[in-house]
Amino acid sequence: MTAIRFVGSALFLTAFLAVCAHSQADYGVDCSFPIHSKEFNCGNLLGDRKQIYEDFMEGCRKRYSTRASRCDSTEDDRIEMSLRQPQSMVNYTETGFKKIRAPNSVMDLLNAHWKRNRDGLYDREEIWPAGSIYVNHWESPTYMSAVEDTNTRGGGYALKKAVWDAVKPVVEAWTGMEQKPISMYGIRAYTEGAILSPHVDRLPLVSSCIINVDQDVDEDWPLEVYDRHDRAVNITMQPGDLVLYESGSLMHGRPFPLKGRFYANIFIHFEPTGRKLGDTSLEYLDELDDILPPYLLAGSPESDNWARKNPHGWSKPLPSAPIQQITSPEGHRAAAIGDLARLSKLAQTNRRALHAKDENGWQPLHEAVRADNKEAVELLIKHGANKDARVGKKGEGASALNLALDFLSVGADTVNYLMSIGAQNIEPDL
Ligand SMILES: *[C@@H]1O[C@H](CO)[C@@H](O)[C@H](O)[C@H]1NC(C)=O
Ligand SMILES: *[C@@H]1O[C@H](CO)[C@@H](O)[C@H](O)[C@H]1NC(C)=O
Repeated sequence: MTAIRFVGSALFLTAFLAVCAHSQADYGVDCSFPIHSKEFNCGNLLGDRKQIYEDFMEGCRKRYSTRASRCDSTEDDRIEMSLRQPQSMVNYTETGFKKIRAPNSVMDLLNAHWKRNRDGLYDREEIWPAGSIYVNHWESPTYMSAVEDTNTRGGGYALKKAVWDAVKPVVEAWTGMEQKPISMYGIRAYTEGAILSPHVDRLPLVSSCIINVDQDVDEDWPLEVYDRHDRAVNITMQPGDLVLYESGSLMHGRPFPLKGRFYANIFIHFEPTGRKLGDTSLEYLDELDDILPPYLLAGSPESDNWARKNPHGWSKPLPSAPIQQITSPEGHRAAAIGDLARLSKLAQTNRRALHAKDENGWQPLHEAVRADNKEAVELLIKHGANKDARVGKKGEGASALNLALDFLSVGADTVNYLMSIGAQNIEPDL
């Protein structure tokens, strides 16, 4: 009798351990996907991840055929950032991530927008820069319902501002810091088989959140993050869940292919201003570094890199300024994503939008250059953009070719094109 009971509980225990092993494997970096190096660390713990990765890279190279090397250089860049950036960042929270329910006010706005635009969604495939390896878009396209896009129904500045206003206090409360809205594209729908490479976000995307708006999945599609001890953690999200994460320092991705029809989420990014929440004095301004933003550690590997790319230093946000102009420059966005149809249309209906300057003196031309959308650059030049236009509030910054050389690699299409039309390489004034 005792023996039987023992066997019974042993079986139960084995089954129990097997379930645990399946749902909460304990592993570190370079197991599910390359994070610090391309050498996989965990044998077969997660199946043949090496093969999945090789197919992923091969898919990119095939898609970009003559520009296949871009896939490898952006991939190397991703891994370098994963090594360099997390250790260089000031963290504002203990864990780096937290799942909560999104405020109803936010969900009402997003649900309404999603419902209005869902039907036409598949007409709006997202355009990724050539060789981008963040999503396997060559195999599983993504679709974008932009919140600032006045062409999607109900989109536009008012919606964008309403979402900012509703989410900002949540991010501020979590980080304990005053935050400045930086970017929010729209609702991105991933499709069957999608993989999002683990990465940290490019600065100034520092304090961020993801909201699951809607999904049609056969299985939860986990967001994989790495905790402070570099151990993997899966976070699953249902519609209405909001994950706060320190996106500049916390590795995050979705390395396991999406099983289902679609997964729709929105990313909302903020930058800490350096002022603690509730601080009413202006003393924090004196404590800010002359060059570095408050979230970068002086002397860290990323600080050099940052200072090189931002020769004018960090521009301190004005104290208690109203939310910075979050204009929705249509031309800028179209240029950044290489939306040629939109640009051509603007050329007929709103030429000014094609050459408008944003608060930092960037024109759509510069956005197109940074994203290496050569066709968009060509189109803008054809419609009168000045090939030597410089960024900066007073035009004191880099010229288009100088930006291209800074952001892109030598041999990039846009670099070649700008050189072929005799664009000048003008450095920013010091
Ligand atoms: C995350 O989910 C994947 C896919 O279900 C699973 O294989 C992996 O073991 C999980 N990882 C962790 C850390 O739980
Ligand atoms: C911030 O978090 C990242 C990721 O968890 C970690 O690698 C880094 O060391 C942390 N920074 C500091 C200053 O502790």
